[in-house]
Amino acid sequence: MSYVLGIDLGTSSLKGLLMNQQGEIVETATASYELYHPKPGYSEQNPEDWYTACVEVFEQLNDQVEDFNDRLEGISFSGQMHSLVLLDENLEVLRPAILWNDVRTTAECDFIMSTFKDELYDITKNRALEGFTLPKILWVQKHEPEIWSQVAHILLPKDYLRLKLTGQFHMDYSDAAGTLLFDINQKKWSTSILDQFNIPINTLPEAVEATAFVGVLKADSVANVIFTQEVKVFAGGADNACAALGAGVMDTATGMSSIGTSGVFLSYEEDGQSDYEGKLHLFNHVIPNAYYSMGVTLAAGHSLSWFKDNFASDLSFDALLDGIESIPVGSNGLLFTPYISGERTPHIDSAIRGSFIGMDASHHLTHFTRAVIEGITFSLKDSQKLMDEAAQRHFKKIISVGGGAQNKTWLQIQADIFNAPVVALSSEQGPGLGAAMIAALGLKWFDSVVACVETFVQYKEAVNPIAENVAQYEKIYPLYRKVYAQTKVLSAELAQI
Ligand code: XUL
Repeated sequence: MSYVLGIDLGTSSLKGLLMNQQGEIVETATASYELYHPKPGYSEQNPEDWYTACVEVFEQLNDQVEDFNDRLEGISFSGQMHSLVLLDENLEVLRPAILWNDVRTTAECDFIMSTFKDELYDITKNRALEGFTLPKILWVQKHEPEIWSQVAHILLPKDYLRLKLTGQFHMDYSDAAGTLLFDINQKKWSTSILDQFNIPINTLPEAVEATAFVGVLKADSVANVIFTQEVKVFAGGADNACAALGAGVMDTATGMSSIGTSGVFLSYEEDGQSDYEGKLHLFNHVIPNAYYSMGVTLAAGHSLSWFKDNFASDLSFDALLDGIESIPVGSNGLLFTPYISGERTPHIDSAIRGSFIGMDASHHLTHFTRAVIEGITFSLKDSQKLMDEAAQRHFKKIISVGGGAQNKTWLQIQADIFNAPVVALSSEQGPGLGAAMIAALGLKWFDSVVACVETFVQYKEAVNPIAENVAQYEKIYPLYRKVYAQTKVLSAELAQI
């Protein structure tokens, strides 16, 4: 019996998911690292910390699983998207990584959109957003020219980690698409974009399929773990694409709602041709030749953890959510907008801020908690609506992963707000499952992606929408939609003070 290891390099921790050929979990291990906010809107991490965490995860697995070093056959990765890692010619990290949730690059986005908007959209099918990699590169070019002059390699987080483990440079198509330097239909780096923004093509690694074999684990890369066989390494992909594979989202009738720090509403795309006018992201998938579209709520799980940390820090999440089932749909007139870090989809506005609207003296903590959950879900519905309108998706079911799948009332709220059956996974493992599946596919354990999904992915029973609740939410959602327009100016004015 052989094992595959899916490594998920997330924003708060790195998780290893060890699986066998029957698609069963053998063991998991996690190691955390720091997230730094040196200035408002900045979000950075030290790439070396990801590698230290990875070594720790290998060591934990080696301690916990007796035959880990004998049976591990393949490894792949899921990584936080867009985050910029810069290395010099000696492969030294030049500055902390600028992460996907760092919003310092509004001026660079405005510059790209005012000088190169149509060309960029034709090639990448996306618009420039603060989170994406290209604006971060322009920021470094402008604000840290001495760093830029030393840049020899541009990578994303999981590619840096893979480099440390194999000595090889690669980036898979799903992550390359999120840099805004990639022609998503031609599947190659775009020389027009690179020339336009003075980025030498030799700073970029070879772009490959997620399932591509890219090297073997270097003998000394995880020093304390000695493998008795060659461990093959496969490229891996963007965390959202890996989550979709790990949720078995394989057709356009199935959507995915994922609630982590950020929230994502995602649809499978058969080709890279849908035209969302940049309102949704459209990227290459980790499934060969497929694509996916998605909208992003910047602070989904983060809105709930922010709320808990500030207003109910003594409660566990379960205790905080206890009782939301008995609060009426719409939280008795209390609305929350989750724009505490600005918003991506659908507003693309880094200056907007969150709000509670409709507070009255009868509301207590549980109303606020339900309102936060409803607000996060309304925000994901905004993306579902864009997919319905532009690509007539009308999902027949939605797979829920992450925080929203852990609570039965939140699953019901999703079914009622999305007005579709919502299904959770039997064993929720996050994007690491998709990464383990990529390694299994790379090793040719299966002859098709469908066969791999059938072995690795199991579902719980569907939670169906309740007609009465759907009707109620259909009245409330248009009001939620109005909050953005009516608070935009206020947020901007408050920011001036
Ligand atoms: C997607 C995005 C986030 C990160 C989280 O565009 O920025 O979902 O991938 O790791």
